[in-house]
Amino acid sequence: MSIDRTHLTALLARERARYEADHPRSRELFGQADHLFGRVPMTWMGMWSGGFPLYLDSAHGNRITDVDGHTYIDFALGDTGAMAGHSPRATVEAVTRRLGELGGITTMLPTGDAEWVAAELARRFGLPLWSFTLTATDANRWAIRLARLATGRPKILVFSYCYHGSVDEIFAVPGPDGRAVARPGNVAPPVPLDLTTRVVEFNDVEALAAELAQGDVAAVLMEPALTNIGIVLPEDGYLDEVRRLCTENGTLLMIDETHTFSAGPGGATAAWGLHPDIFVIGKSIGGGIPSGAYGISDAVARRVGADPDADLVDVGGVGGTLAGNALSVAAMRATLENVLTAPAFEHMIELATRFTAGVQQTLDATGVPWSVSQLGARSEYRFASPAPRTGTDSAACADAELDEFLHLFMVNRGVLITPFHNMALMCPDTSAADVDEHTRLFAEAVGELVAVG
Ligand SMILES: Cc1ncc(COP(=O)(O)O)c(C=O)c1O
Repeated sequence: MSIDRTHLTALLARERARYEADHPRSRELFGQADHLFGRVPMTWMGMWSGGFPLYLDSAHGNRITDVDGHTYIDFALGDTGAMAGHSPRATVEAVTRRLGELGGITTMLPTGDAEWVAAELARRFGLPLWSFTLTATDANRWAIRLARLATGRPKILVFSYCYHGSVDEIFAVPGPDGRAVARPGNVAPPVPLDLTTRVVEFNDVEALAAELAQGDVAAVLMEPALTNIGIVLPEDGYLDEVRRLCTENGTLLMIDETHTFSAGPGGATAAWGLHPDIFVIGKSIGGGIPSGAYGISDAVARRVGADPDADLVDVGGVGGTLAGNALSVAAMRATLENVLTAPAFEHMIELATRFTAGVQQTLDATGVPWSVSQLGARSEYRFASPAPRTGTDSAACADAELDEFLHLFMVNRGVLITPFHNMALMCPDTSAADVDEHTRLFAEAVGELVAVG
């Protein structure tokens, strides 16, 4: 069953017209945004479909209300930043106390909450020593410096079409001879990518072995499943091979669970029994308050500490003035202690399973050649079947027009999915009825698509 493109274009025009008519206030505010670069506060916000983004009025739990008075079931959840739900009560109480009653949002002084959070991260993810950041990007950048320091090696190995934040080393794909070249769209790379980076396809053990054998890779930086080019799951035994090859070649394994935290309270690391040397997380752990963290093993800490010339406490390139501030740390503590708990994950994963089954039902009924993949509390459909096994394969089945149609179809009927591809995330407030509403609308949208063709 293929999609008739003329029909798709007509459906898309109908949904765009409806979106524009239903959101006059958002359109007006966007029209007035003459002093914002790209007309949005942050360039990614230009990704929303329909020509202009919805403007936020309020958000609680898994509901967002826009300035035109429409309320949505939110499966985008700030692209994981709001996996704890919007303004979770426990987080709000803790940050309100710090903001007002106690004061001292940023002081460059520690609070007792920091050790609580570090111990909790150690319990969940296994690594003993932690440091805080305000974003996952920063956690990756600083941890990459430590990996180079610990190994004395220059390169970072990444996977084609990975994403780990705005980190210079990662925007690479394999060139014709296998050497890293800038991926399409990479904004002004500071140096040629092959100076800093080796890159292979996800799920390709042989290619990884060959690159690591060059002996110059400080760390393999990976998500246990790719999540930023659709979901690309690891094949059976693949992650064991990655660990083995890292150990054999003296390369550190650096796992970024900023998104794959959706796999469970201890992320994929606990769910799948992984053993990273360095661990990175961000986005959701502060319940929406800027927060991030990286954890290191005792062995990495020893090697890093062995270099007397490395300035780890001042201007050596690791750290940020506001990182680990009292507000951010209070938010992490409240969120981990009370919101993103083991029972919450159980609920979220059950709903993502229901969501995935709902999508699969429509794929089976209509025969469209798409697939749906689940990673704990996260589910995503992709315009290829079977599901792609590498980032490059997954990139090849992107379809901007289909994305826009499906996103707008949902928005126009009260459901938000992420503007980046077709990801849906569950939070503790998501209900089975919310999931079933998506299932109903998805069937309706795909039904319209295949009605002509
Ligand atoms: C796996 C992963 N790591 C790091 C980041 C960067 O997060 P932030 O933009 O909050 O720095 C992202 C963002 O999408 C991500 O998906």
